[in-house]
Amino acid sequence: MKKRPLTFLISAGPTREAIDPVRYLSNRSSGKMGYALAEAARAAGHRVILVSGPVALIPPRGVQVHPVISASDMLTALKRELPASDVLIMAAAVADWRPRRIAPRKQKKAGRTSWTLDLVPTPDLLATLARRKGRRFVVGFAAETGNPLPEARRKLLAKNLDLIVANDVSRPDAGFEVDTNRVTLLTAHTLHAWPTMTKRKLARDLIAFIEFRLPPS
Ligand code: CTP
Repeated sequence: MKKRPLTFLISAGPTREAIDPVRYLSNRSSGKMGYALAEAARAAGHRVILVSGPVALIPPRGVQVHPVISASDMLTALKRELPASDVLIMAAAVADWRPRRIAPRKQKKAGRTSWTLDLVPTPDLLATLARRKGRRFVVGFAAETGNPLPEARRKLLAKNLDLIVANDVSRPDAGFEVDTNRVTLLTAHTLHAWPTMTKRKLARDLIAFIEFRLPPS
């Protein structure tokens, strides 16, 4: 059977939430998993739109890239691109908290012995987008420390996902900055525990897994 070319909307990397003009809150995401997915989807003949937080990676050839900084920027870009997409993969590590107010000037040390930041939650991008997903196939990642499965199952249901890719980021062969990952895939009715593999191979296998689950047109 001939494969149908699809449009993949993929988010990657961290977001940054500004504290003042020189500081921000962020996390250790390198963007490697999201970029590998974009490359694999493109190599499989699909159209790929990559919404990327700040990373030190070169975008794969033939992929349309939208660079963003904050969670709110990322949500705006994803909302704009979602209507024309068939698949959304949220591989980004969205910062969960942002300062309530961004200080307009650099915050100085002088006269302070401590500094408390007032943080408010960023929107849950995936849950927001998946509420209006229609027939789109929506994939999330669950980054946990320790057994990821209970939390991954909860997120699959709570965020209205078709698939969640769960990993234990405290393992040396998985998670942030490393080139390998070890994941378990959960759908509403299936569980697939995959062995440790490179992020590039995992990306190819994941794209094939998603293609297999989408109805041929
Ligand atoms: N996600 C998102 N918007 C957020 C936080 C997370 O879209 N503000 C997405 C991530 O891209 C990922 C999925 O939700 O695909 C799960 O992210 P994760 O960090 O594992 O979970 P959270 O929902 O943030 O919950 P917690 O940090 O408490 O585990």
